Amino acid sequence: MKNIILLGPPGAGKGTQADLICSLCNIPKISTGDMLREAVASGSDFGKKVSNILDTGGLVSDEIIGSLIEDRLTKPDCKNGSLFDGVPRTLGQASELQSMGIQFTHVIEIHVDDEVIVNRMSGRRVHPGSGKNYHIEYNPPKVEGVDDDSGELLIQREDDKPETVLKRLSVYHDQTKPLSDFYTNQSKVSDLIYLKVDGSKTVDEVFETISDQI
Ligand code: AP5
Repeated sequence: MKNIILLGPPGAGKGTQADLICSLCNIPKISTGDMLREAVASGSDFGKKVSNILDTGGLVSDEIIGSLIEDRLTKPDCKNGSLFDGVPRTLGQASELQSMGIQFTHVIEIHVDDEVIVNRMSGRRVHPGSGKNYHIEYNPPKVEGVDDDSGELLIQREDDKPETVLKRLSVYHDQTKPLSDFYTNQSKVSDLIYLKVDGSKTVDEVFETISDQI
């Protein structure tokens, strides 16, 4: 059973590595970002409520995230563990996941400097149907502008505008970065493995480092 958290700033490569790790470990990806974007795309009342928060780079409340996760974990595909991509993002969410009784086996922090992130985000392209990420330069699709698997068009995310990326980075440093100390301390008194990797290396190099450890 593997329950893995991927921690890191926006654009560190969490989503990219999440897909590779999930295939390797045969566990589902739980990405609150993907779940929230799906809700926005569906046009539901809930989606309308969170849409502006996503577009402006703020955080959705811990309460909403807690109930999304609780609901997701009832699905049968989570019975052998899960990959938590971008969640928890606050100390409040971390304690909520703890109170759900999830035993985390690994926390993987992907570290990338802020300057690299802004450049990465401007080149990111996403397939809305699957959430799969590409980069026009570093991780391009086989055919420009088109998803490799479905052949559908790729889009640029609304929150990848430079000013919104800077806001998301500031939210990350204020509210999410404290989780690295929180889980590092837990790893000293439990079986939890805390791994910090250099996310400025290539996608393959980062994955090799991670797969060696899990
Ligand atoms: P979310 O979708 O989780 O966004 P994020 O954490 O900001 O992370 P990103 O998806 O932007 O980046 P990533 O680290 O996955 O990088 P990627 O692999 O795409 O959340 C979006 C919003 O939802 C939040 O702002 C918030 O409003 C809300 N939200 C979500 N979860 C929440 C929570 N728990 N609590 C409250 N609110 C929440 O890579 C980026 C680019 O770089 C891609 O183009 C990729 O191809 C490229 N790339 C990847 N790796 C490399 C590499 N090694 N070298 C070169 N390029 C690379």
